[in-house]
Amino acid sequence: MSKSVHTAAMMVLIAGLFTACKPDPSFDIKATKEESISFVVPQGWPAPAYNFENNTLTNAGFYLGRKLFYDNRFSRDNSTSCGSCHQAFAAFAQADHDLSHGVDGLVGNRNSPPIFNMNWHTSYFWDGGVNHIESQPINPIQNPVEMDENLPNIIAKLSGDEQYKKMFKAAWGDETVTSQRIFKSMAQFMGAMVSANARYDQYKRGDAVLTPEEENGLDIYNGKCASCHTAPLFTDFSYRNNGLTVTALNDSGRARITHAPQDMQKFKVPSLRNLKYTAPYMHDGRIKTLEKVLDHYANGIHQSATLDPQLQNGIQLNQQQRSDLLAFLNTLNDESFVKDKRFHENQ
Ligand code: HEC
Ligand code: HEC
Repeated sequence: MSKSVHTAAMMVLIAGLFTACKPDPSFDIKATKEESISFVVPQGWPAPAYNFENNTLTNAGFYLGRKLFYDNRFSRDNSTSCGSCHQAFAAFAQADHDLSHGVDGLVGNRNSPPIFNMNWHTSYFWDGGVNHIESQPINPIQNPVEMDENLPNIIAKLSGDEQYKKMFKAAWGDETVTSQRIFKSMAQFMGAMVSANARYDQYKRGDAVLTPEEENGLDIYNGKCASCHTAPLFTDFSYRNNGLTVTALNDSGRARITHAPQDMQKFKVPSLRNLKYTAPYMHDGRIKTLEKVLDHYANGIHQSATLDPQLQNGIQLNQQQRSDLLAFLNTLNDESFVKDKRFHENQ
């Protein structure tokens, strides 16, 4: 929690001594009413895998989830929040870091993926090692190079906090901090983050037009990329090897979970939405620019037993096709999502 929030809470407490009969304004339910949250499946999208079954989305639950997401007390030394590695301005990836950085500046072995449209994922992490959004946060919390903390400590740290008492009560009926309530609130916060208002989406709704270059880029995307990066989520959520070389990190990808040789070096196909904000790219952030991604597909494909057959000969594009494809990819950036204050810390 930031100092300014501490100070604000103190002032409210002091004010409370003199205005004991008035309702307590320190809980920001007023703000939540002004900017209420809802979850709507965008037109033409498939049904989500997670639809807040058994975890009804409410303003109080969502805003509690937001506060938890940005709380440094989830880490051993109170230095790192979920939001440290999932930054709003980077579409909730970690800007400029190839590999994620956690407590004590320790470096992980994968790139922080962006967080949006999570309710459509059927599994989480680059290797699909987590299969439910409500159980996902336990991994970064306990990971020694991420937050290196445990739930009993976190519950102890949060339980005395006056603002949390009010927020847990508003969301869950009483003040008790439990791990289940923490996870459900975080799932409400992350699950409500839907990015579906890029220029491409406006075009699909008939509210915008694409330039001839972007239209041509869309054709190229349909021919060369859509089989894996399938619209409207721009991923088919499968695990594939797109021809990256194996580095010293020796990441076996999906095979880490399944132990199957045919899954070696396969990683979850990432979305192509919001690429403007999420560089660097790939599971270890090894590629810094989209031009270099296209170079990889053109002449960087590493042949191996598990390479996806579609990429055997690479994807060659001439200069015009490359620039049209990049122009199309640019229509998938959703500025209104990145700027949505409901998802930002301490709005
Ligand atoms: C130290 C940086 C770091 C911190 C702190 C962190 N994460 Fe992550 N997050 C990552 C990395 C790296 C991955 C990918 C892990 C992998 O593939 O093995 C990830 C993956 C995820 C995913 C899955 C995304 C996908 O596309 O599959 C979600 C959701 C997520 N994190 C939410 C959270 C939440 C909630 C917290 C706080 C409790 C948190 N993260 C804390 C780095 C971090
Ligand atoms: C055979 C399936 C397949 C095809 C075809 C394919 N990709 Fe990929 N793409 C992947 C996989 C798998 C990854 C993740 C690889 C990794 O990190 O190990 C990926 C990663 C990416 C990334 C990095 C995204 C991020 O967030 O890190 C971009 C950008 C990308 N692809 C663009 C394209 C474009 C553009 C095309 C068409 C010219 C294309 N891909 C064709 C499977 C595919």
